[in-house]
Amino acid sequence: MLSIVVLISGSGSNLRALLEACDNPMFPAKVLGVGADNPASGLAHAEEFDVTTFVVENKYFANRDAWAARLAEHIDILQPDLIVLAGFMKILPASFVDRYRGKLINMHPSLLPQFPGAHAVRDALSAGVSKTGSTIHLVDEGVDTGRILVQREIEIPQGISELELHEKIKEVEREQLVRLVYEIAANEITLED
Ligand code: GAR
Repeated sequence: MLSIVVLISGSGSNLRALLEACDNPMFPAKVLGVGADNPASGLAHAEEFDVTTFVVENKYFANRDAWAARLAEHIDILQPDLIVLAGFMKILPASFVDRYRGKLINMHPSLLPQFPGAHAVRDALSAGVSKTGSTIHLVDEGVDTGRILVQREIEIPQGISELELHEKIKEVEREQLVRLVYEIAANEITLED
């Protein structure tokens, strides 16, 4: 059974998809805990599924390393096999990435290496490209630069708004995340860098 901690910053629709999948006793993974960098609305999904939550806000820490060390303390109590950044919008320091190398994956709403960063959907629309996508990749010290594990393409319909396009991407991401977690649990995908 693959054990997972999910980190979020927002509404947590990808988290919810994973919680629903893990609720099926035949699914080979379980979510042990959900952390956030703010009192994110998505934490309510974890509470609904009786999964433990923690919030570590960076404003209470002198620097990013101290903040991430506290985040790691919460994670280490749970000892997960995998940590999923599912809409976690803070950049984690090298100390954190190093500690969880090969166990840390990130979801990103573009066809990386195109449009890294916090505004991937907006940037794709501004660039006028005809397709974008969703990527899940290993986390390394760069911003959205780690080895790509899975990627799906999505056509961009003419005139679509940023919000609508992001929702369209998230529909794909939710399915993509559940499938990838299944494949990791079944040893069909390895995470060694
Ligand atoms: C997802 O689209 C995810 O790819 C994105 O945040 C959204 C979270 O949605 N992550 C990033 O942009 C990271 N750079 P959710 O809160 O509904 O799961």
